[in-house]
Amino acid sequence: MKYHVPVLLNESVNGLSIKPEGTYVDLTFGGGGHSSLILDKLNVKGKLFSFDKDDSAIKENKFKNVNFQLIKSDFKFFDLHIRDRGIEKVDGILADLGVSSHQIDNKKRGFSYLGNGVLDMRMSTDSELSAEEVLNTYDQDSLQNILFNYGDIKNSKIIAQEIISYRNKKRIINNEDLLMAIKNISKKKLSYKFLSKLYQAIRIEVNDEISSLREMLKKSVDFLKKSGRLVIISYHSIEDRLVKNFINKSSFNSDFKKDLYGKKIEFFKRINKKPIVPPIEEIAFNSRSRSAKLRIGERI
Ligand SMILES: C[S@@+](CC[C@H](N)C(=O)[O-])C[C@H]1O[C@@H](n2cnc3c(N)ncnc32)[C@H](O)[C@@H]1O
Repeated sequence: MKYHVPVLLNESVNGLSIKPEGTYVDLTFGGGGHSSLILDKLNVKGKLFSFDKDDSAIKENKFKNVNFQLIKSDFKFFDLHIRDRGIEKVDGILADLGVSSHQIDNKKRGFSYLGNGVLDMRMSTDSELSAEEVLNTYDQDSLQNILFNYGDIKNSKIIAQEIISYRNKKRIINNEDLLMAIKNISKKKLSYKFLSKLYQAIRIEVNDEISSLREMLKKSVDFLKKSGRLVIISYHSIEDRLVKNFINKSSFNSDFKKDLYGKKIEFFKRINKKPIVPPIEEIAFNSRSRSAKLRIGERI
């Protein structure tokens, strides 16, 4: 089975506006789909540094190109690794956020609500926090906030209460336990759509995805050369809002970042006013691409 089908492949790599002798960073290697196309566009002087924090993605690497390095790390530390290798600034940074098909399809990893996998959801097995830990140790307010903020779940308070009352009797260790814990909420609400949101919310917490994204975006500013491109594919509204505001307003909310004199600080020129979304043919072929949104900024 294919490790991962790359999403918005040409649109995102074209968004990097690659110079064949340039230096590029792919922050989310996965199955290497985007890295492969970037390498095709580089000459021997060009360089690509790719990152992933998941061992299985690192093991998947088949590229032997001398101008390519794959680094195992959370991408929030990308700057340290690149500087260690003597590079001060790069021509483009790409991130295809979230999880790969390989991670979702491997039931032992616990990313999917299908089957009776254990509730793990760690992208990096070096990390200690698992979904099981979150579900069994977080207090009600924390659970409620996670479900509401990361999953957009409206009845998050009731669900948090149900989880806590179940775990007081039995530890929640697998999908079946979690489904049992929330079985009393109406059948209509327990749709696949609801379960996707619930699992997404827990996964974002387990992997601290929002703070990694924020850190990485902030660091991209100093790390991109003038006219260097920032290309981000996101898969849910929380991520897309952060990326959009950062590219358009240089801040994480809808107000422009301003200097001491009240003058707007602009880090990026936005290349696409509206996010680029996959064409229907791509969605028909790869349903996991359906929520993808691509935004491109050019460093000013
Ligand atoms: C959607 S997949 C990328 C797929 C890839 N573009 C391809 O075409 O095969 C996302 C990958 O990024 C990794 N990842 C997500 N967040 C990360 C982070 N903060 N640091 C490092 N790797 C991360 C995941 O482990 C996963 O392998």
